Amino acid sequence: MDSYSIESNKKKSRMPARLDFAQSGTGLILGIFMWAHMILVGSILLGKGAFNFVAKTMELAFLSDTGHGFPVIVFFAVFIVFTLFITHALLGVRKFPISWKQHRIIRDQMQMMNHTDTNLWYIQVVTGFIMFFAGSVHLYIMLTNPGAIDPYLSADRMVSYNMWPLYLILLICVELHGTIGLYRLCMKWGWFAGKDPRKSRQTMKKMKNRATIFFLTIGILALLVFIVIGIKHRDNVGEKYSKQNTVIKKIQSGEEFFAQNTVQGLEKMQSADLIHQ
Ligand code: HEM
Repeated sequence: MDSYSIESNKKKSRMPARLDFAQSGTGLILGIFMWAHMILVGSILLGKGAFNFVAKTMELAFLSDTGHGFPVIVFFAVFIVFTLFITHALLGVRKFPISWKQHRIIRDQMQMMNHTDTNLWYIQVVTGFIMFFAGSVHLYIMLTNPGAIDPYLSADRMVSYNMWPLYLILLICVELHGTIGLYRLCMKWGWFAGKDPRKSRQTMKKMKNRATIFFLTIGILALLVFIVIGIKHRDNVGEKYSKQNTVIKKIQSGEEFFAQNTVQGLEKMQSADLIHQ
């Protein structure tokens, strides 16, 4: 009782609320960033040229005389995102169950309540834990190779440097974590609640599911396209993409095709002549 009165006499700390606010803020920025990121990476679906254009534009290549761009811009962008990512993860760790006993209690209560939003919270905890490792690997590689983003180098990373399994796991986690996170933010702060909160909760849930399916589809298709490019490019790992090279290769393969057809045609004509003789 004594300890209770001492506790209640203490001024209530605002720290937990501030930390919660910071976690929501960093989560919101990262969630919106990830949607933009998936659209940009998804440009590979429009072709190698489209992805290269996006990568070069991010490096502000249009401002440089050589057209090579400034990879240092990508470095700073990754640095900022990495800092937000770590801050968000550290703030999230506060809410993780820290012992097997705590975990068991949460699981038992979840089974008892069978409440969808509580289940979504648990998915966020698990995906967040996996992303802490998988996301850090990806961000570290981007931080240390800011000038190595182009259709061939990215595809080489996926296939020849065996990154695709990590990307697949990260993709599933990030899409679930991000859309659930944005949905929970709307619920927590009452955004878009409207006149009928129950109805708007259902609508938001539908939108959340559609966003997850949309971004997962783009991500998986992009991953497949990168894998195909990476497999075809296995003999030239490390070679950068360039429009000129692509045109030259097309002309060369066209010439080869023409030469092969001509040889075959001549052979056919010769054998036909032999028959007539
Ligand atoms: C500014 C920071 C970032 C940059 C510049 C960046 C850049 C890229 C690039 C260029 C790719 C294509 C593959 C490659 O080149 O290796 C990629 C793929 C990917 N990134 Fe990031 N990324 C950033 C942050 C993040 C973060 C924070 C996450 C999630 C934690 C993430 C998750 C992914 C996933 C899941 C893929 C695979 C996409 C797919 O399979 O379609 N990225 N990223």
